[in-house]
Amino acid sequence: MAAAYTFVDHTYDVVVVGAGGAGLRATMGMGQAGFKTACITKVFPTRSHTVAAQGGISAALGNMAEDDWRWHMYDTVKGSDWLGDQDAIEYMCREAIPAVYELEHFGMPFSRTTDGKIYQRPFGGHMRNFGEAPVQRACAAAARTGHAMLHTLYQQCLKHQAEFFVEYIALDLIMDAEGNCRGVVAWNLDDGTIHRFRAHKVVLATGGYGRAYFSATSAHTCTGDGHGLVARAGLPLQDMEFVQFHPTGIYGSGCLITEGARGEGGYLTNSAGERFMERYAPNAKDLASRDVVSRAMTMEIREGRGIGKEKDHIYLHLDHLGAETLELRLPGISETAKIFAGVDVTRQPIPVLPTVHYNMGGIPTNIHGEVIRPSGDNPDATVPGLMAIGEAACVSVHGANRLGTNSLLDIVVFGRAAALHAQATLTKGTPHKPLPADAGQNALARLDRSRNASGTESVSSIRLAMQKTMQNDAAVFRTSKTLSEGVENLSKTAEMLPRRKVADRSLIWNSDLVESLDLDNLMDCALTTIVSAEARKESRGAHAHEDFPDRDDVNWMKHSLAWVENGKVKLGYRPVHTWTLTNEVEYIQPKKRVY
Ligand code: FUM
Repeated sequence: MAAAYTFVDHTYDVVVVGAGGAGLRATMGMGQAGFKTACITKVFPTRSHTVAAQGGISAALGNMAEDDWRWHMYDTVKGSDWLGDQDAIEYMCREAIPAVYELEHFGMPFSRTTDGKIYQRPFGGHMRNFGEAPVQRACAAAARTGHAMLHTLYQQCLKHQAEFFVEYIALDLIMDAEGNCRGVVAWNLDDGTIHRFRAHKVVLATGGYGRAYFSATSAHTCTGDGHGLVARAGLPLQDMEFVQFHPTGIYGSGCLITEGARGEGGYLTNSAGERFMERYAPNAKDLASRDVVSRAMTMEIREGRGIGKEKDHIYLHLDHLGAETLELRLPGISETAKIFAGVDVTRQPIPVLPTVHYNMGGIPTNIHGEVIRPSGDNPDATVPGLMAIGEAACVSVHGANRLGTNSLLDIVVFGRAAALHAQATLTKGTPHKPLPADAGQNALARLDRSRNASGTESVSSIRLAMQKTMQNDAAVFRTSKTLSEGVENLSKTAEMLPRRKVADRSLIWNSDLVESLDLDNLMDCALTTIVSAEARKESRGAHAHEDFPDRDDVNWMKHSLAWVENGKVKLGYRPVHTWTLTNEVEYIQPKKRVY
C-alpha cells in the first residue's frame, strides 16, 4: 500500500533530472546563477551516456578552412529534411561557436592543430557554401569527445555547488491541479528511501530511448525515463517516428564506430569490394547524412551484396589510414574493433551494420527548454515549471534526421539556454507554495504496481518481445504492412504489463524493480514511436516508408504529437515553424535532398 512509505522532503529552486551533457550544462548554469540546484541521476554523472559520444561537436569555427554558421544552419535544415524548426536551428548553429569556446575555457581537452587551434574533422552532411563539398566542422577530442565534455562539465558543476543525488530513480512528476509542474519523486537505490523534490523548475535531461530496440549503440540506461514521466503526466511526445540508425555499429555487438572514422578517410565496401556510396551520394559519398548512408547499406545487403556467410553486413576500411593516424585521431577505435569484432584495423576491415543510435523525437520544447503542451489555438503553449533538454527533448533542431556532432552541440547549447531562461524568469529564493495534498501519491502507486507485480511474465521477456517488434517493424525501411503488424504486436505486448512478475520486493539495490520501472518508460516510447510511424504516410529523413517513397510537404510537413492514455496512443499534430529567429537569415525553402 502506498501509505506505508514516508517521504524525505527537499526544496530546491531547480531540480535537474539526468546528468549527461545536457543535464550537467543546465545544472552548472543554474548553480552559476545562484539557484539552489539539485541534479538527480540514475548513474554516477561521468558514467552517463554522453561519455560514449566519440567524433566531435559541430561549430563553424573555421579552424581548418573557411566556414560559416549559416552554412551549418543550411546543412542542419537540409539534414532534418525540412522537419526542423528553423528558428531553433538558427539559434543552435549561431550559438555553437561561443558554446565551444566556452567549453574550451572550462578546460575541455580538445585535440589541437599544429598551430594550437581546436582540431576539426569532416562529418556526414556538414558541407561548405550551402552544400558544395564536405567541410571540417566537428571539434574533436580525439575520438573521446563526449568523455572529455562530461568530465569538464561535472567539474564545473562541483565548482558551482550543485548538489548531486546519485543512483536515484525518478518515479513521477508532481503536477498540480492547474497543470503546473511542482517537483519530482525519486527512489534512492542505495537505502530504499523515497524522496520528494519540490522545485520551481524541473528540467528533464534524461536522454534517449535506444533500448526500446534490440540492437542499439545506446547504453542500457537509455530507457526514455523523461519521456515516461511526461507521458504519464498526460503530456504529448513529439516526432517519435524519427529514429536514427548510425551506419557503423559493429556487426553483432552494436558498439559504435564513430562517423569520425569516415571523416578521417575511412570508407565502406560491399561484397564486390565496391565503394558503393559513390553511386548513392556522388558528391558527399561516405560522408552523406546518416539516413542516406544507412539506407544505402541496407539496399546493398538486400540486393545480395552484403558481406559474410549470411551476406548481412558491410565492411568499413580504415587500414589505409596508417597506424599513426589511427593512434592520433581515432584512439580507442582500434581497441573497440579488436574487442568487439576481433579485427586489427591496421590490416582488416571492420564488419558494420546500421544500428539504432539516436531519437530525433522527444518531449516538445521551445528554444528556452520550456515544455510545450498545445492548448486551444496556441500550438506553442508551455507547461509552467517544466523544462526538457538534450536527446529527451524535441526542440526541434534535428527534425527527421540529425547530423552527426549536432547532438553534443544540442546538449550544451540548450542546457545553457535552459539556465539562461531560468535566470531571466525566476528570482533566487522565491518562496514555494505548499504542495498539493496528494503530491507524490501517483509515484508511490506506480512503484507499488511494479513492486507487488506477481504475474506470470518476466520483465525481461516482455522487454525482449517489445525490442524484437521495434527492430523488425520500425526499422531502416518501413512498409504499411510492417508498421500495422508492429502496432498490433506491440499493443499485445503492452497488454502483458499488468501480468508482469517482479521477484524481489526489496527497495535496496533491487535491479529487478529498476528494470520493471524502466520498462514502463520504454513501452510508452515504443508505442508512441510505432503508432506515429504507422500514421505518417510519406518518407522523410529517417522515416523511409516504402509504400510512400516521397516526401509530402503539402500533407506532412508537421510535427506528430502522441499522447498515451490507458496504454493506447492518441495522435495530433502541430505546425513546423516556417520562420527564422532573426532577420539575419531567411527561411530556407524546401527542396529535394541530394548529397
Ligand atoms: O559517430 C559518432 O561519433 C557519433 C556522433 C554523433 O552521434 O553525433
